[in-house]
Amino acid sequence: MATTKLVLITFAICRLILTVGLTVDPTELLRLVVDGQLSVDPSDVDTASKDFGLMSRAAPLAVLHPASAQDVAGLVRAAYSSPHGFTVSARGHGHSINGQAQTNNGVVIQMSGGSLRSGRPAQAARVSEKGMYVDTWGGELWIDVLRSTLEYGLAPKSWTDYLYLTVGGTLSNAGISGQAFNYGPQISNVHELDVVTGKGQLLTCSEEQNSELFQAVLGGLGQFGIITRARIALEPSPKRVRWIRVLYSNFSAFTKDQEFLISLHGQPSSQKFDYVEGFVIVDEGLINNWRSSFFSASNPVKITSIDSEGGVLYCLEITKNYDESTADTIDKEIEDLLEKLDFVPTSVFTTDLPYVDFLDRVHKAELKLRAKGLWDVPHPWLNLFVPKSRISDFNEGVFKGILGNKTSGPILIYPMNKDKWDQSSSVVTPDEDIFYLVALLRTALDTGDETHTLEHLTNQNRQILRFCVDAGIEVKQYLPHYTTQEEWMDHFGDKWARFYKRKMEFDPRRILATGQRIFSPSSVSSSLGVGGDKLSIS
Ligand SMILES: Cc1cc2nc3c(=O)[nH]c(=O)nc-3n(C[C@H](O)[C@H](O)[C@H](O)COP(=O)(O)OP(=O)(O)OC[C@H]3O[C@@H](n4cnc5c(N)ncnc54)[C@H](O)[C@@H]3O)c2cc1C
Ligand SMILES: *[C@@H]1O[C@H](CO)[C@@H](O)[C@H](O)[C@H]1NC(C)=O
Ligand SMILES: *[C@@H]1O[C@H](CO)[C@@H](O)[C@H](O)[C@H]1NC(C)=O
Repeated sequence: MATTKLVLITFAICRLILTVGLTVDPTELLRLVVDGQLSVDPSDVDTASKDFGLMSRAAPLAVLHPASAQDVAGLVRAAYSSPHGFTVSARGHGHSINGQAQTNNGVVIQMSGGSLRSGRPAQAARVSEKGMYVDTWGGELWIDVLRSTLEYGLAPKSWTDYLYLTVGGTLSNAGISGQAFNYGPQISNVHELDVVTGKGQLLTCSEEQNSELFQAVLGGLGQFGIITRARIALEPSPKRVRWIRVLYSNFSAFTKDQEFLISLHGQPSSQKFDYVEGFVIVDEGLINNWRSSFFSASNPVKITSIDSEGGVLYCLEITKNYDESTADTIDKEIEDLLEKLDFVPTSVFTTDLPYVDFLDRVHKAELKLRAKGLWDVPHPWLNLFVPKSRISDFNEGVFKGILGNKTSGPILIYPMNKDKWDQSSSVVTPDEDIFYLVALLRTALDTGDETHTLEHLTNQNRQILRFCVDAGIEVKQYLPHYTTQEEWMDHFGDKWARFYKRKMEFDPRRILATGQRIFSPSSVSSSLGVGGDKLSIS
């Protein structure tokens, strides 16, 4: 066993040396792998070459399973100080769509899944009841964070819809869900981080300490450092959830109500919902079938009897958390709130379930899709932040226009309050107080139906982006994907200069997260004569 590992490690290092002309002292790397494992196992490399999107592939030279933050720092230091450099990409759970965690000719650090030897994360989650926070490993899955904090009756405040994502991965984007209107995105709920910069330095940062690095890394698309530890704010965990869906056929009434509900963020918790999302129902098939997934037979409604505007319906999805102490008043609180809304009166669907089951709801859907072979398929997802002032034009042009009557997957739509987003972080949002997330979460299938193909859906995404440009709707991509620096500069707008400056400070050789395609590594760019030195601050 030990010999096999040694051979494997030696092979990995030889391959690194051969392929990138790495001239670091091999013993340095050998020392590095004493704790974790540097693997060239084909199945490891294959996993790191792919992601949830299944639309792009790039094979790394090796995969590091770190056993500690020091492992991460050691590898990045080696990459930074090697004369030719090699790239290093942290990979959370690989749930990106467009190869953002991949790298060619470099090393992928597999942050989730723990070290191969122990199977445990490099750093166990530690809860502080007094401080109401948890310290987690950067590669920890949110589902595991939740399990750890629940032992203390506590839970994080701001979520994503799906929990099999890593802390470092969502904090590199924003981390949003129906709680964001109230608590802000996940990046607004972090006290402190440990980060390995592109120079291989392991630094602790917060609003008070190394604040420039802290703000850069949050929403930073992995460009400035690798998050090895995050200190996340907690609250007492709710016990149960009342989960409600109501329907609209009138889009203005729908958005008016959503905007009203998120305007209640400053109210006492008894006078607002805890979660506000929504989705669009365009699909004929869905209109007939969608009840089965959520709505029980004892809760029937004739959806086809609802007179929908041009075949499109809108579903508002809201929840209210409660426990023993509020169980008596929750019905009344919900009733009072619903009374202020303008949905189709016969369309109220209610479910009651444990808080954890609500948070973990998408995993149930995942298991069903996996059983049908519908999970490991291409996902040409498109996520957009749409300014409130243009959401109605977006509805006309996209939901009632471009999409036709087949959507090939859920379409989420919900508004958020911009003042819950820290403007000094790296994330980019539209320039309005309220903006909507529109998430087109579609699956490409080879069913013989032309409208389900990857090509069709990809074309439609392009058409949607083009429509926004032509109509002057200033959307921002969430989980952005661009391939040229001009597009990235446009995406960041007046935040580009700061983004660029931070990059030069924290990852001057541009070796981190090259799969985002924002910067090319300095050695590669100079040898190919592209990118790199032509970068400019506009
Ligand atoms: C089924 C599903 C549901 C989703 N639901 C939501 C949702 O409700 N809300 C939401 O906001 N997002 C959602 N997402 C998107 C999710 O936030 C992104 O996929 C995100 O990238 C996190 O995934 P990951 O942890 O696998 O990171 P990866 O995809 O592996 O990595 C993402 C990027 O971050 C970098 N990175 C990874 N780890 C680190 C680290 N420790 N330090 C620094 N950089 C790092 C990578 O290099 C890469 O560039 C969903 C995705 C899926 C597949
Ligand atoms: C749709 O809702 C808006 C806002 O509540 C309202 O002004 C409008 O009259 C409604 N339209 C129809 C056709 O009911
Ligand atoms: C759906 O769209 C297709 C093609 O655009 C059309 O042929 C079909 O009649 C539509 N179906 C419904 C129910 O509108």
